[in-house]
Amino acid sequence: MAHPSLVILTGAGISRESGLATFRDADGIWAKVRIEDVATPEAFARDPARVHAFYNARRAQLRDPAIRPNAAHRALAELDAAWPGELLLVTQNVDDLHDRAGSRRLLHMHGELMRARCMTCEAVHPWPDDLSTATTCPACGQAGGMRPHVVWFGEMPLDMARIGAALDRCDLFVAIGTSGQVYPAAGFVAEVAGRARTVELNLEPSAVASDFDEALHGPATETVPSFVARLLAGA
Ligand code: APR
Repeated sequence: MAHPSLVILTGAGISRESGLATFRDADGIWAKVRIEDVATPEAFARDPARVHAFYNARRAQLRDPAIRPNAAHRALAELDAAWPGELLLVTQNVDDLHDRAGSRRLLHMHGELMRARCMTCEAVHPWPDDLSTATTCPACGQAGGMRPHVVWFGEMPLDMARIGAALDRCDLFVAIGTSGQVYPAAGFVAEVAGRARTVELNLEPSAVASDFDEALHGPATETVPSFVARLLAGA
């Protein structure tokens, strides 16, 4: 097949070599703070200042000029620009490194750290700075209702219909830098198995490694550029 339809799923592992922590590695985010305290709607209702502080710290880190897209992000952006067939990059990551690398056909299923959403009027705004309970919405002027535009545990990921349609059409599914422990993303490979070729590029086997036809283990900045080169060479 000349140019199979591609769906690429990425997770925190693709941003690790840019200097951003993953979630479940030994030095990961969930080793330092509990999901129940900072990443659920209940946590936000109970202690919004604590949740804002957690995301303000992550947003501040992302503004650090030392945090930049790495060779894996750049290779996927090159693939996006060069691939004449269908391609959708679905990222679980809330960082903006795929965006800054130049990926266009990109969907953030868990939202974006650099955007804020008003719970009063639902408007979503670019938001590189801190948020607090005193922040007013630029659209409706209400205070107290601004939240990170990030999907919390217990909430539905974004754009699932668009993701499902892309999975229905895909001939090649590639998962990069994700531990395969969080659904629905971890279930995408099982959804396409049997009718699409499936490849896992990860530092080590994920929890769903056995669902994949092929696996390339190693750091993303090595596996992704060589995989993209293979794809563009028509291999
Ligand atoms: N190159 C490739 N893979 C790597 C690298 C690297 N340099 N470093 C780590 N990894 C792999 C790890 O082996 C692990 O399998 O990346 C994966 C990261 O897994 P998680 O930390 O669980 O991150 P992720 O799969 O993206 O988590 C999914 O869980 O907490 C929620 O919403 C959050 O989007 C996140 C979701």
